[in-house]
Amino acid sequence: MIKQLEVVRREHLKEKPDMATLGFGTVFTDYMLSMDYNPEQGWHNAVILPYQNIELSPAAQVLHYGQAVFEGMKAYRTGDEVRLFRPEENFRRMNQSNARLNMPEVDIDFMVDTLKQLVTLEKDWIPTGEGQSLYIRPFVIATEAYLGVRAATHYKLLIILSPVGAYYGSDHLLATKIYVEDEYVRAVRGGVGFAKVAGNYAASLMAQTRATELGYDQVLWLDGVEQRYVEEVGSMNIFFVIDGTVVTPELNGSILPGITRKSILELAQHLGYPVEERRISIDDVFEASQAGTLQEIFGSGTAAVIAPVGSVKYKDQELVVNNGQAGLVTLDLYNHYTGIQNGTEKDPFGWCVK
Ligand code: COI
Repeated sequence: MIKQLEVVRREHLKEKPDMATLGFGTVFTDYMLSMDYNPEQGWHNAVILPYQNIELSPAAQVLHYGQAVFEGMKAYRTGDEVRLFRPEENFRRMNQSNARLNMPEVDIDFMVDTLKQLVTLEKDWIPTGEGQSLYIRPFVIATEAYLGVRAATHYKLLIILSPVGAYYGSDHLLATKIYVEDEYVRAVRGGVGFAKVAGNYAASLMAQTRATELGYDQVLWLDGVEQRYVEEVGSMNIFFVIDGTVVTPELNGSILPGITRKSILELAQHLGYPVEERRISIDDVFEASQAGTLQEIFGSGTAAVIAPVGSVKYKDQELVVNNGQAGLVTLDLYNHYTGIQNGTEKDPFGWCVK
């Protein structure tokens, strides 16, 4: 197990962008973390070094057979105080993803300590405006140059950082229009849906492009067996408020166990909302809408945080939820959740790590 972290300083720091106009994932900071794996040394060569291109053999297995996993997390700053949000949860999930793709697991404590050092070094890059944060992208790729199909022997782990604003355009609480995908599926049980693997996102693109062409913002994914049960929305978990209860599909192997999902469930309970994790079909959603009990829908994820849904199109039916606006429960959860993250509200869960 590695214990040492080397730091290679750069001569000149980059010019910071205009933080007022930040989008998502286009600007990268001065430094990144790099670590290598081989069977003899395990994870080794942990180094914080200037952000730069990486060298990869054209035969690197990640380019051919897709052994690639990633994580997404965020850091927040108030004055000189820097906070990470539940970082150990992300590295725990990274290990589940790594295990599923036959990739080596990482030492969670070492990764959290290392990340703390990287983010402390880069604290001037953490934007403090409304809805802004430093997005942290850890990822692992198979680097062995070999065209046979088997688990690679060599890997690289990198962590890059990007100051970000809202994921969906300028207004993060603008309700989105959703298209229910009834041809393609995102994941199947027994597959890799529960893991944060790059291929899941590649597999989602065609449906997303079609939804965009049809004038919708996001795809709502149904299960891969019967195409009846709701799984996720875009690259987020999905929540419904039905008759006062906050409902989200139960984890079933093909749904990503979102850290925002888990935190929203804990927060909603703490705030006194009844909460249910259960199977919910798209027919249930339309029936609740007809009956007048479907009050709100929102997506949850690290990047978008909480994204209200304003309408849902399924085959030849379309429902509008809460007059196409973010609802009161959605806003309540959003305000408390972001308050805890950005330090304006007490953190009763101990989620934030200084
Ligand atoms: C997240 O918000 O959790 C995501 O995974 C979105 C990312 C793919 C941009």
